[in-house]
Amino acid sequence: MDDMEPIDHILTTTRSVRRRLDLTRAVAPEVIEQCLEIAIQAPSGSDRQGWEFVVLTESEPKLAIAELYRRAFAAYIGAPPAPGTPISAVRASATLLAEQFHLVPAMVLFCYAGRVERQSAAAQAALYGSILPAAWSFMLALRARGIGSAWTTLHLVYEREAAAALGIPSDWTQAALIPLAYFTGTGFKPAPRAPARTKTSWNGWGRRRDTGEV
Ligand SMILES: Cc1cc2nc3c(=O)[nH]c(=O)nc-3n(C[C@H](O)[C@H](O)[C@H](O)COP(=O)(O)O)c2cc1C
Repeated sequence: MDDMEPIDHILTTTRSVRRRLDLTRAVAPEVIEQCLEIAIQAPSGSDRQGWEFVVLTESEPKLAIAELYRRAFAAYIGAPPAPGTPISAVRASATLLAEQFHLVPAMVLFCYAGRVERQSAAAQAALYGSILPAAWSFMLALRARGIGSAWTTLHLVYEREAAAALGIPSDWTQAALIPLAYFTGTGFKPAPRAPARTKTSWNGWGRRRDTGEV
């Protein structure tokens, strides 16, 4: 089976969708469940699968989390951008998402059992590395079904407040919040990126592969 082409297409065109979200179209719970069933094929440390996916579709919890997101976003957008952050259309589209956050048909909060405070680098990597692949797989599965989404973390400035609003136990970590909706228009393109070879070390830090290019 030659499935490289469609898979590469999905992998290279799954963008953060903020402007092209159809806020008027419902997303069936079954579709979200189907994408989560795909997401749980992702790896987790020791195959622990210590995840919990909190799906918000009702107005009240969506509004509560959107308010926290908006509060954090206001501080983020009002502050000078961190060095290395491209000043770009992302700011305008992120502002639109913040304004409309409560209007998305669904948002999914990816949580994992455990906390990383005062843990070793290895333990921190193990916890986040056990939930982030599932979240990305979820976004890819949505994309394949015509549903756009965006990786977000800003509400975590108020992680405790979000936990209280949703009843998340204090020994769980929230790792990513994914708002989603069917996207409008046709597909997406690969984004401009510095070529991977300019970021790839071979056999020692900073050693680029000699490709004969000048
Ligand atoms: C760890 C992480 C946190 C992010 N947090 C936010 C966020 O809170 N709000 C948002 O609008 N986008 C957020 N993004 C999306 C990035 O802005 C986006 O991935 C980047 O601009 C590249 O665009 P693309 O995803 O369309 O390729 C986040 C992405 C990552 C990986």
